[in-house]
Amino acid sequence: MKIGVLGTGEVGQTLGEGFAKLGHRVMIGSRDPSKKEVQEWLAKTKAEAGSFAGAAAFGELIVLATRWEKGATENAIKLAGKENFTGKIVIDVTNPLDFSAGAPKLDVAYPDSAGARVQKWLPQAKVVKAFNIITASYMTNPHLAEGKPDLFIAGNDGAAKKTVKEIAMKFGWENVHDMGSIEQSYLLEALAMLWVRYGFLNDHWTHGFKLLKK
Ligand SMILES: NC(=O)c1ccc[n+]([C@@H]2O[C@H](COP(=O)([O-])OP(=O)(O)OC[C@H]3O[C@@H](n4cnc5c(N)ncnc54)[C@H](OP(=O)(O)O)[C@@H]3O)[C@@H](O)[C@H]2O)c1
Repeated sequence: MKIGVLGTGEVGQTLGEGFAKLGHRVMIGSRDPSKKEVQEWLAKTKAEAGSFAGAAAFGELIVLATRWEKGATENAIKLAGKENFTGKIVIDVTNPLDFSAGAPKLDVAYPDSAGARVQKWLPQAKVVKAFNIITASYMTNPHLAEGKPDLFIAGNDGAAKKTVKEIAMKFGWENVHDMGSIEQSYLLEALAMLWVRYGFLNDHWTHGFKLLKK
């Protein structure tokens, strides 16, 4: 598959590299694909770089890994061109975090969510919220010292969620729980906040969640 990754931060780089290692063709998108971080990433990853619009047009599946604050994700989608998302699976990894007061807080209030907003901005796309509940370096390598965490996903399209689940399993996830429609993204984003809160309280950033059953 051809994968368009919108976002050049840790998440875009990690997932882009993960997809490339699985044998997919990857194009990472940025407002400035010539910037140092992108060039350094390209030097060690079998991938291409382009504009947000270039990466979105290239991808048969699109990863949305952009900052949320100050309208950044909405702007990235605008720059990518909404027509380039039509009919495609969009893996939304964003967390709607506001860092203006130092420690992050959620910038979108229940029952709204970043996932639901992205789906509203891209009504022709199949948005699946995924990978947002763990730090980037574990998204394609979910092995913690105490075991494998679980992944929670949400989205409206069953086939799109099945594809995302298969991708996650290839990245090494064992348990991928489908939480229902894209509106359920608020649960996944709140879970990410719980992850952040634990991190701040314990100065620990390599943890994950596991659902235990009888
Ligand atoms: N880092 C993690 O461990 C982690 C874990 C879970 C979820 N997340 C979420 O995943 C997303 C990406 O996180 P990240 O840490 O990889 O990177 P980030 O620093 O949050 O975002 C980097 C990307 O955002 C784009 N961006 C910033 N301002 C923009 C604007 N005004 N207009 C358009 N694009 C803009 C940048 O584009 P340019 O390339 O053009 O500069 C860059 O590609 C965030 O929503 C974050 O909350 C992160």
